[in-house]
Amino acid sequence: MSTLLDISDLTVRFETRRGFVHAVNGVSYTLEKGKTLGIVGESGSGKSVHFLAALGLLPPTVKREITGRVLFDGKDLLTLSDEELSDIRGRDIGVVFQDPMSALNPVLTVGRQLREVLMRHQPLSKAQAEARAIELLDLVGIPEPQRRVRQYPHQFSGGMRQRVMIAIAISCQPKLLIADEATTALDVTVQAQIVDLIRDLSAKMDMSVIWITHDLGVLAGIADQVQVMYGGRVMERGPVDAIFDNPRNAYTRGLLNSVPSLDENAEKRLYQIPGSPPDLSKPPVGDPFAPRNPDATERCFAEMPPLRAVEGSPGHVVAAWYELPPYAEGSR
Ligand SMILES: Nc1ncnc2c1ncn2[C@@H]1O[C@H](COP(=O)(O)OP(=O)(O)O)[C@@H](O)[C@H]1O
Ligand SMILES: [Mg+2]
Repeated sequence: MSTLLDISDLTVRFETRRGFVHAVNGVSYTLEKGKTLGIVGESGSGKSVHFLAALGLLPPTVKREITGRVLFDGKDLLTLSDEELSDIRGRDIGVVFQDPMSALNPVLTVGRQLREVLMRHQPLSKAQAEARAIELLDLVGIPEPQRRVRQYPHQFSGGMRQRVMIAIAISCQPKLLIADEATTALDVTVQAQIVDLIRDLSAKMDMSVIWITHDLGVLAGIADQVQVMYGGRVMERGPVDAIFDNPRNAYTRGLLNSVPSLDENAEKRLYQIPGSPPDLSKPPVGDPFAPRNPDATERCFAEMPPLRAVEGSPGHVVAAWYELPPYAEGSR
């Protein structure tokens, strides 16, 4: 097995009129070729900013400081020029966002938009690119691709539009696909279809995937590894089964307890972790989740616990100063 992505000690802070916002605070992880890493956490956890910063996708007007190292295929993305980065994006790394309507151009046909990406990165004639565009629409499960290729984004349903975005993202056979809340705006049935589609494409193309979501439940069917983020930090990471069956961090347990479950009672379905995420313009010195954790110790408030290996659980790391009792569904 070989490593595709190796992020170490990535930090991102924004300079705003109110001072610094510490959005990402020392995030490290690796991703192997062909594997899927799920990244989960509530809104504001730093899930989006960490990869946008790594790929040079933060808006140019935003003042920020980025430090750390992001090795992709052996190259540190943080040291590349804008031009080198934009070559890598779209060719080696595809990204799918929550809202395909804002990523697609409303006045161009989807075929034209696919052709443009293909011809930018590959030596194809217009006719070859058109043929490939039709193949790609077919590959992502869009019926009648010959007809659909000539249509505009508004002529597609939400789910079909997301498939178009996926077709664009995978058009140059990227090594890595990043799906950031890619199914959040879709209804449950369509969401499941998109999850299946990306899992199949990942297997077919031996493509690594980073699947970002606020909904831990989605990751059960797709991720090899799950990483839990909060306050711009990694709270826990491990094989998907370890995270669901043996969560060792109080925040992970809170997220698990808020996963909607169809066959359980309504009360459980409505569970939300009490309190709200930290204000990252005044980042906590200790564990960012301590103020919302009734079991937090003095040390949790005073000092951020480093990630450490979980005994007897290979590949599983947790940031916690104290040992939680064995996990039973619904327990803290
Ligand atoms: N341009 C910006 N200026 C200041 N703060 C920002 C900016 N963009 C994002 N943030 C802050 O960075 C933190 C992480 O955001 P984000 O990565 O988007 O969270 P997530 O994707 O986990 O919901 C949040 O506190 C957010 O408010
Ligand atoms: Mg986000």
